[in-house]
Amino acid sequence: MPNAPPETSLAWDSNDTPRSKRFGDTYFSAEDGLAETRHVFLAGNRLPDAWAGRAHFHIAELGFGSGLNVLAVRELWQRTRAPGAVLTVTSFERYPLSTAQMTRALARWPEIAPLAAELTAIWTPEGGEFDFGDTLLRVMISDARAELPSWRGTADAWFLDGFAPARNAEMWEPGLLRAVFERTARGGTAATFTAAGEVRRSLAGAGFLVEKRPGFGPKRDMTVARHP
Ligand SMILES: C[S@@+](CC[C@H](N)C(=O)[O-])C[C@H]1O[C@@H](n2cnc3c(N)ncnc32)[C@H](O)[C@@H]1O
Repeated sequence: MPNAPPETSLAWDSNDTPRSKRFGDTYFSAEDGLAETRHVFLAGNRLPDAWAGRAHFHIAELGFGSGLNVLAVRELWQRTRAPGAVLTVTSFERYPLSTAQMTRALARWPEIAPLAAELTAIWTPEGGEFDFGDTLLRVMISDARAELPSWRGTADAWFLDGFAPARNAEMWEPGLLRAVFERTARGGTAATFTAAGEVRRSLAGAGFLVEKRPGFGPKRDMTVARHP
């Protein structure tokens, strides 16, 4: 879907947290999205330990949204990567935000403000490649279900970050999660905020070893999965 128009159905909750009117869910926790990302996606994928000593590491994501996850992982990468190592992030997004929406969504966290400014300076809702030197970001603007089966990359870690499964079922379809498994390196991992039984069963059915972990804030559980 090249040249998709920016997402228009956005509302703003407390703390300027973006909420999708299309899906009836927030992009991240209104309590503290950055802390949630660090708990669910970074710790859930054993980062930074998983990339220790690696010259190259590849993360893939379902649902780029505001880019918060990517900024959080880049901030950690810059502090902990092996000298000269390069991170590749490939993210799939069907309804890209405009630069103004992204800027507003990311304004809350001074600690990632310089990285947010770098991203919003070159972001376009058409997606494509964004080269930050230490990190190469590719955002594919398309329905992940259509795009992922033909993607030829292999990820060391996945951020599975669709909206809640009950509201955004397409992002959790068993066929899509099978494609995620097929595009995961041996020993690679996936993490998600949800512990919905259907999602855990689909991940296990795809071939992952699946575990529940304590969730962020009021969420009791989340899910981590490992390619055997
Ligand atoms: C919870 S938000 C992602 C938050 C994001 N990771 C961040 O850091 O801000 C879920 C995202 O999934 C996207 N999405 C929903 N259905 C999709 C689909 N079929 N293919 C690709 N992206 C989709 C939404 O547009 C939204 O941006």
